[in-house]
Amino acid sequence: MKTVVINNIPKSNKDEFYAPDNHPIRKAAQVIRDGGLIAFPTETVYGLGANALIPAAVENIFKTKGRPDDNPLIVHLSNPLKIKPLVLDIPDYAQLLINEFMPGPITLVFNKSNIIPDVVTAGLQTVAIRVPSHPLALFFLSLADVPIAAPSANLSGKPSPTSANHVLEDFNGKIPYIIDGGDCQFGLESTVVDTTGLKPVILRPGAITADDIIKCCGDIGNNIHDFSITPKSPGMKYKHYSPNAQVIAVPLKDTAKKTAKEIQKNIISHIPKGKKLGIYASDEVILMLKKLKINFEELSFGDYKDINKASAEFFRALRKGDKLGLDVIIVQTFPEDGLGQAYMNRLSKAAIQQEKKIILFVCTGNTCRSPMAEYYFNSFDVIKTKNYRAKSAGIHAFEGDKATRGAIKAMDKLFSIDLKDHLSSYLNREQIENASFVLAMTNLHKLEILRIFPEYKYKVYTLREFVGVNLDVDDPFGLDDESYINTAQKIANLTNILIDKLK
Ligand code: TXA
Ligand code: MG
Repeated sequence: MKTVVINNIPKSNKDEFYAPDNHPIRKAAQVIRDGGLIAFPTETVYGLGANALIPAAVENIFKTKGRPDDNPLIVHLSNPLKIKPLVLDIPDYAQLLINEFMPGPITLVFNKSNIIPDVVTAGLQTVAIRVPSHPLALFFLSLADVPIAAPSANLSGKPSPTSANHVLEDFNGKIPYIIDGGDCQFGLESTVVDTTGLKPVILRPGAITADDIIKCCGDIGNNIHDFSITPKSPGMKYKHYSPNAQVIAVPLKDTAKKTAKEIQKNIISHIPKGKKLGIYASDEVILMLKKLKINFEELSFGDYKDINKASAEFFRALRKGDKLGLDVIIVQTFPEDGLGQAYMNRLSKAAIQQEKKIILFVCTGNTCRSPMAEYYFNSFDVIKTKNYRAKSAGIHAFEGDKATRGAIKAMDKLFSIDLKDHLSSYLNREQIENASFVLAMTNLHKLEILRIFPEYKYKVYTLREFVGVNLDVDDPFGLDDESYINTAQKIANLTNILIDKLK
């Protein structure tokens, strides 16, 4: 399928969008009505939409995104007046929120009526509804003239898209049209508010803040729902916004200079030499860091303390970091009030979860066995691997060696996995520190790791003892192609069991 990006939608002299006959946006609206998928802009992030009234179309969103099927979708409407038939009741305070903030970056959760299919809400008896304010979103919703179920238009686990290009990165060839509405104004997803109780409860912080809601309804239940403990908004429990790079949050100090010093301190104590580093901070902080002669890629957002700009550019910066092949991105924090609450929520999800969820495979030279295991493991998506990613290292490795020819050939032949980009690394303390488990190929590797790093005994295992199969993975180094094939197959078998055992 060819993906067409639709831009230059014409405007009338009253500055309103219109769609001439045969304009592709008309076709996109027809695709939606007929049960296909279309990506469209909103003022928060881009959405991947389907006709909410066609269950098979909605199922296709989950498949295309790789989204867990217990995570419900938001239903988008062109006008708040269309909410009524889709819900059982609208409490008075919810009506106040509608009057004040819709259209806008807010999503309200109601008890659903029978019109909404169960796939949309992942079986919940409640439905989340949003009327975006982006003029092109409203225009497209009116053209389609059906409720559109849409999550953010990113592959599950990736940072949300804030431009048509980001959507293209994730879904090129998988959907027929992307409607290009330029860069998103807010750049963080909408505030999700539960309105099924006596008081509003914020399930996901966003650009409409707790203060805004209190001002509007006079009160708020339970302050803010503690989504980290019981994820009432099911999406909050999944790994989100994770670039390939490790994300480290560094506290904002009262001056740019102190913030720069704090970042420098973190680099020295946490980031091994030779890692490709990016820094997401204000222009002033970036300037200070340059004076400190630190080598890094700039991912700046403008003025010091400009939380609006920092939020709007955050996901873009994470995606840019991946394009630059960064290993680590240091991100400046903000105080957790107002919009800072939404920013810090996304940042902590990008930062903490991924650090904790690494499996480190270890062999001798990090050119055959451990990279085979790493690449085989990472060929599965994060849902299958329960949010774990694999890395690898060697106890006697050189830095930057390629995988051996035999290993590359075997992995290509058996699994079409490309090992050519692998570069070896020498096992160091940070790698062990950052890993949830360290899995050695043989008992000798394990003993050697424990000799050097005895304090990590609790997380170092041999692969075979971890999966409970009595099989060591011997070294094929220097042997013929068949030995490599045997080794690759053995590693794949053990890794399959490993993946099944992860929780
Ligand atoms: O700004 C946004 O909200 C964007 C744009 C495209 O509208 N959409 C978005 O969708 O961020 P998504 O699917 O990435 O996030 C939807 C969030 C998830 O955390 C989900 O669990 C929650 O809303 N949600 C959806 N239906 C719900 C329900 N019935 N009860 C509680 N939470 C719900
Ligand atoms: Mg999302």
